[in-house]
Amino acid sequence: MRKYASGALGDQPIPFNDADRVIAIGSDGMMNAVRLARHSVLKPYLKPEHLALGSTNSPMQCMMKQTCAQCLQLHKDPVTGKETVVFCFNQDQELDQVDFACLRQRLRQNGVQEKIAALWLDRSLRRVGVR
Ligand code: FES
Repeated sequence: MRKYASGALGDQPIPFNDADRVIAIGSDGMMNAVRLARHSVLKPYLKPEHLALGSTNSPMQCMMKQTCAQCLQLHKDPVTGKETVVFCFNQDQELDQVDFACLRQRLRQNGVQEKIAALWLDRSLRRVGVR
């Protein structure tokens, strides 16, 4: 993004500094890197008033908006430090609000179950001769 923004990759069919919004969709680490880059290496190329969103994809259970609370995501106001939590009603959240350490912990909580499920599926497919 920095190379594109600086012109190091040649002409910009879409000028980088025309962007009003940044939408990051990917791993929590990538989205956090985009969050940080906007305040450092990309800052000279972005409009100060741009809106940056990340698609958090936090773990969910019911997806019924405030029923089971498996989706709780901690937010911290970057100016005041005030903490709030949000439910699954909106996965696209302002990058500067998301507490990425909290998101990483939440994503990792399902790691063992996901590995066991993958092993079980692999075993089952081998037994029926599909693998
Ligand atoms: S996933 Fe259950 S309330 Fe959000």
